[in-house]
Amino acid sequence: MSFRVAVLISGEGSNLQSLLDSVHGDRVSASASAPAIEIVGVASSRAEAPGLERAEAAGVSTAVFALADQPDRALRDRALGDWLEERGAQLVVLAGFMELLTPAFIRRFAGRIVNVHPALLPAIPGLGAIEQALDHGVKVAGVTVHFVDEGIDSGPIVLQESFELPYHRDIAGIEQRFHEVEHRLLPRAVRLIAAGRVRIDKRNPRLVHVEAETDADG
Ligand code: GRF
Repeated sequence: MSFRVAVLISGEGSNLQSLLDSVHGDRVSASASAPAIEIVGVASSRAEAPGLERAEAAGVSTAVFALADQPDRALRDRALGDWLEERGAQLVVLAGFMELLTPAFIRRFAGRIVNVHPALLPAIPGLGAIEQALDHGVKVAGVTVHFVDEGIDSGPIVLQESFELPYHRDIAGIEQRFHEVEHRLLPRAVRLIAAGRVRIDKRNPRLVHVEAETDADG
């Protein structure tokens, strides 16, 4: 038995690549009998997303669910949900998926969708978060992995990591810094969820309890 993860993308897929490289095929804990984490499908909102080739190179099945082909978002999201369920996805990871999902889709996978966002939420939700941070002159930036609810980047926070931005604002270098952190934080969150170490506090559903990782779990 494996822990089955599906990934939704729209573009480059560097976060998908980090999951393929560091999570796909790994066991959820150090025990030899522990289930493996398997990426069972990658769906894209754009046919030309380079991330699709990354999935194919790793032998993972792919599909495109573009609004260009099915402009009715409710129908598109229903077909996407059916595809994910056919693959038995237990967790849906939004890794650079640049579209809003319908409330019906969010409810269908309630508590089983996570997103990676390049800001310390609740500051700077939505598109263009890195540019907005730079325009504002922020000195501390960061990355958030959160559960997805019906709002924009508003769901309960699983993990966050902050870092200081240098005075000299070389955009390419700063983007790379964000990506380095994302590529570490998102796989870590997926491993923790797969290992059953993440749960939303029933008394305060804004709060996510994350059981500490041990050295043995790597
Ligand atoms: C990442 O910065 C992610 O935080 C944001 O979209 C970007 C996707 O990059 N949601 P990639 O497609 O994973 O390279």
